[in-house]
Amino acid sequence: MSLSMGGSFTFPGTNLTVNRMGYGAMQLAGPRVFGPPKDPDTAVAVLKEAVASGVDHIDTSDFYGPHVTNQIIKRALHPYPKNLVIVTKVGAKRGADASWNRAESPEELRAAVDDNLRNLGLDSLDVVNMRVGHLGLGDAPVRGHVEVLAQLKKAGKIKHVGLSNVTAKQFAEARAVTEIVCVQNEYNLVHRGDDPFIDQLAKEGVAYVPFFPLGGFTPLQSSTLSEVAKAAEATPMQVALAWLLQRSPNILLIPGTSSLGHLRENLAAAKLKLSPKMIERLDSIATA
Ligand SMILES: NC(=O)c1ccc[n+]([C@@H]2O[C@H](COP(=O)([O-])OP(=O)(O)OC[C@H]3O[C@@H](n4cnc5c(N)ncnc54)[C@H](OP(=O)(O)O)[C@@H]3O)[C@@H](O)[C@H]2O)c1
Repeated sequence: MSLSMGGSFTFPGTNLTVNRMGYGAMQLAGPRVFGPPKDPDTAVAVLKEAVASGVDHIDTSDFYGPHVTNQIIKRALHPYPKNLVIVTKVGAKRGADASWNRAESPEELRAAVDDNLRNLGLDSLDVVNMRVGHLGLGDAPVRGHVEVLAQLKKAGKIKHVGLSNVTAKQFAEARAVTEIVCVQNEYNLVHRGDDPFIDQLAKEGVAYVPFFPLGGFTPLQSSTLSEVAKAAEATPMQVALAWLLQRSPNILLIPGTSSLGHLRENLAAAKLKLSPKMIERLDSIATA
């Protein structure tokens, strides 16, 4: 494990250890995460360089594209290095108009796992996140969905189960069904609703994987962030990532990019150390 990649983390109850600096593959599909990218060769190059640079944790889903992102991962990296952990998610499907729709019935979950296996070229998926409903559904029951994934785990199609877009209550409900190794929710410098949940998961040794670490479709912008970046001789995006790494040891990063330049910039953030004074200023952004 490489210290220059943010140190390492072992998913609880597993033999899967990854560098804390990983990569999120959603940006490799076309515009609006739909259809093929404009430049598939660059998408392949981004993945190859990420792994060559030490990334051993890639986040994806078969509903990115749909199918496109997984097919690019397979083209770039199959046969996969032994240490590479690919985390995927199920629970949604795309409409012909690029819309995002729920797909949570047992049949849809089983079909989504098969789609991921086929398009990634795997016999078994390392980690499958149950992406629960859509934002704003609150504490909707998750037990039934997680039971389906637990059955697929027994059948050997899935090795480990995670959750996405969940509350602490849903996490507790899911955990009563099967071990949950990670939670993937929206969290970044300005979007900090999960602060108590992150601390709880840290105590329990469960990975917290923030999506939109850079603000997602609306990249983070803040004068304080820019000032701290200047003082740290880094870019604002690097500071946003370094802040997450320093926020809690169970946080794993999956910043997304379709660009080699941004990939290099983001990976270099793992080496950036922010002073307590800088952290204090960054913490003030969310409360301002
Ligand atoms: N569970 C869920 O519901 C869910 C939802 C959303 C995402 N995710 C996962 O989380 C991962 C990360 O989220 P995300 O990619 O949506 O958002 P993100 O990592 O916060 O930001 C990606 C955006 O920032 C840009 N960017 C990346 N690096 C940059 C840099 N150094 N300087 C300036 N701009 C930069 C990217 O554009 P360029 O391509 O031009 O670099 C892209 O527009 C995804 O890949 C996906 O795997 C999960």
